[in-house]
Amino acid sequence: MSENTEFSSKLGLIAATVGSAIGLGNIWRFPAEVQSNGGAAFLLVYIICLFVLGIPVMLAEFSIGRGGRGDAVSSFTNLVPGTRWRGVGALAILATYLIMAFYMVVTGWTLEYLWFSITGELYQGATASNASEVFGARMNDYLHTDAAPIIASCLVIFINIGVLLGGVQKGIEKLSNLLMPVLFIILIGLCCVSLSLPEASEGIKFFLSPDFSAINAEVLVSGLGQAFFSLSLGMGILITYSAYYPAQTRLTQTSVIVSLVSLFVSVLMGFIIFPAVTSFGLGGESLAGETLVFATLPEVFLRLPATRIISALFFLLLFVAALTSTVSTGEVAVAYLRDHFKMKRTRAVLISLLPLTLCSAVCALSLGSMPQLQIMGKSIFGFLDNITTQFMLPLAALGGCLFIGWRAPRSILMGQLTNHGTLKAGFAGIAVWLIRIVAPAGIIIVLLWPVLKDLFR
Ligand code: PHE
Repeated sequence: MSENTEFSSKLGLIAATVGSAIGLGNIWRFPAEVQSNGGAAFLLVYIICLFVLGIPVMLAEFSIGRGGRGDAVSSFTNLVPGTRWRGVGALAILATYLIMAFYMVVTGWTLEYLWFSITGELYQGATASNASEVFGARMNDYLHTDAAPIIASCLVIFINIGVLLGGVQKGIEKLSNLLMPVLFIILIGLCCVSLSLPEASEGIKFFLSPDFSAINAEVLVSGLGQAFFSLSLGMGILITYSAYYPAQTRLTQTSVIVSLVSLFVSVLMGFIIFPAVTSFGLGGESLAGETLVFATLPEVFLRLPATRIISALFFLLLFVAALTSTVSTGEVAVAYLRDHFKMKRTRAVLISLLPLTLCSAVCALSLGSMPQLQIMGKSIFGFLDNITTQFMLPLAALGGCLFIGWRAPRSILMGQLTNHGTLKAGFAGIAVWLIRIVAPAGIIIVLLWPVLKDLFR
């Protein structure tokens, strides 16, 4: 690859990778999963999955990317010429494109809510007694109509185009360096607000005192799914980004930092959500799916002083987290077109992102006025979400581990993990076995879970 294709600083590459990892997965999906999988027990399972499976898979992808120095497909063939394992990269790129189609819509929703918080429209006419109906109805109005979500997702796509046209250093790295501090400042501010609420300790108790009897196979599978999604594994993102890492970047250190920061953000979100909802006697169903973010939290904000400011800050947080993730998905497709078809960046960006306006519109319509847009009994939106997260991402992650662990020349993995012997082997020696055996076994169990489940009944 030509052009300025290396991150310019260590901080920049970490900000960009962390920016991809931190997304709606940490901020929205995590609290909902904690709620439905037994509170702190889930947190514990998630942490174990993050370290035993998440970090090794991340290291496998880093090694493929920095070793192969190409996009998600050609990194494979650069390491083993002509290998069929490049199909793994192709699967990841496809999955990522499908994810973008619905994630752009969701990111658009956060933008709509940010706007309605700033204008105050979201809170007009809502009072403590009618809040739950008003916000439920507004959620349907705002999210499940046609025009507004389509316009908002197009806007998000155009912002992505603007950033990606800037390239690796002046686009992705600059954006991440700017937005990551904003994200942390808002997170910590909201955390202070939430922890100062009257019944905050009840929420914290639920979040932090584990009930070990709640841990069962389902919780394990959800914990792994959450670890994978929140670290952006199996998406080709980490392969693409690590191809831009300088030769001296320490991969193991980077993977630990990225995972810890992602975990930290998830835990902070727990500290924000649980005290807030228990303080106002909410919980249960109100934490599930879209309801949590777009109906329950506005209800909480309504009862706080400075409603509109807190609400706007929260939706800005969501938007920032989602935007840095979408940029990383966009770059996967752009890198592929540039590498494979020797396209100029501008062309590659337009060819990858413009058709998304159409794909996202279809996703938005499937939740709006065209519910007949279905695949296998689910809205196109829901179908894409399920097939990518439950099937395509784990499969691509598995392929990555098997390829670098067993198929590529053995020296490559160890060489990448120790920067060709210049770093102490230490953890790298263990990581190799986690990548070769433990991670693939864990992923296979998750993939086969729907079948295995019945055997255990
Ligand atoms: N890690 C991201 C998240 O938590 C996953 C993701 C990345 C999703 C890129 C979409 C696009 O949201």
